[in-house]
Amino acid sequence: MEALPQDPTVAAEHRCRAVVATGYGGPEVLAVVAIDRPTPGPGQVLVEVHAASANPYDHKVYSGAFGSDPNALPLRLGSEVAGVVAEVGEPPTGFAVGDPVIAHPVRGGYACHVLAEAANVFALPGTLPVEQAAGLLLTGTTAAHLLAAVGGGGDVGVGDTVLVHGAAGGVGSMATQLAVVRGARVIGTASPARQDAVRALGGEPVAYGRGETTLAERVRALAPDGVDAALDTVGTDEAIDTSLDLVADRRRIATIAAFGRAPALGIHLLGHGPGADPGTALRAAARADLVALAAAGRLAVTVDRVLPLEEVAAAHAHLASGHARGKVILRP
Ligand SMILES: NC(=O)c1ccc[n+]([C@@H]2O[C@H](COP(=O)([O-])OP(=O)(O)OC[C@H]3O[C@@H](n4cnc5c(N)ncnc54)[C@H](OP(=O)(O)O)[C@@H]3O)[C@@H](O)[C@H]2O)c1
Repeated sequence: MEALPQDPTVAAEHRCRAVVATGYGGPEVLAVVAIDRPTPGPGQVLVEVHAASANPYDHKVYSGAFGSDPNALPLRLGSEVAGVVAEVGEPPTGFAVGDPVIAHPVRGGYACHVLAEAANVFALPGTLPVEQAAGLLLTGTTAAHLLAAVGGGGDVGVGDTVLVHGAAGGVGSMATQLAVVRGARVIGTASPARQDAVRALGGEPVAYGRGETTLAERVRALAPDGVDAALDTVGTDEAIDTSLDLVADRRRIATIAAFGRAPALGIHLLGHGPGADPGTALRAAARADLVALAAAGRLAVTVDRVLPLEEVAAAHAHLASGHARGKVILRP
């Protein structure tokens, strides 16, 4: 096992395992290394990670999509975890050692311990399994941002028919459920294998891809009175063109994936990238409500598989298929 530089004076119990990307590329650049367990500073909490969520975003980081500076290597990965508080910084943070918590965003969550700012730490409700908790907030906050963006100053709600592209995916399943909770009707695209999952979330599934009819024709057949808003988590031309075809008001179309096309189209582009709205404050403000909804059983996180940290490359190869059946969780 390759190791990062270590302080030889650090006791063995303060050592920790972490995933790093040793270069830019595919999952083969991922390695588990030994690191020194970090110490929380003022306002920080050290979380003992029991579950870390693997997200497509993490792959983009080491793929080079956001830049490939060799000086930034090795890269630590993972922005959302759940576990227990292992140590608290001074002054007191409101958390105590042993508290079950969710933390997002964090840097380097694919590890046995990770530092988190106390403002990014939430009590883990007893009703929420740790693997589901780890996968809640990145997708949930992105979905909340999508819904707010197309709400026209308010929010999606009763009387709205919403088309969600990728409705069984990580972000799409959150967007579907949040729109349903708000009283909207949701039509969600999914592969044949995932259509039952869309139904279980409260949406009406429709197949994507070319067949005897187009996606727009299939959606029109389900919603002859029209579609009020469209949320794209997929980024294909089919998703964007269908949204433009069906939704009259472009301010009610948002994408988190079509970075190439969105700027010229006058639709919302959300996230981190040129011309996109990161929605930092909105996403941060959404987290407590998401935890409360999940705790109350009104927001489900579907977990596809839980893999040991050492199988991070397999976890990412599965994610890269684009058809995971829910969240992929790493267990340190
Ligand atoms: N901009 C942001 O702020 C932001 C935030 C989070 C994620 N993202 C990005 O958003 C995308 C989705 O993330 P995720 O976590 O939801 O991924 P995910 O869990 O892997 O879900 C991917 C979804 O895409 C669907 N899909 C795959 N190929 C498709 C196609 N040709 N046509 C229609 N649907 C297709 C899959 O449906 P089936 O399984 O039914 O085929 C699945 O529902 C990723 O690119 C991610 O990087 C952006």
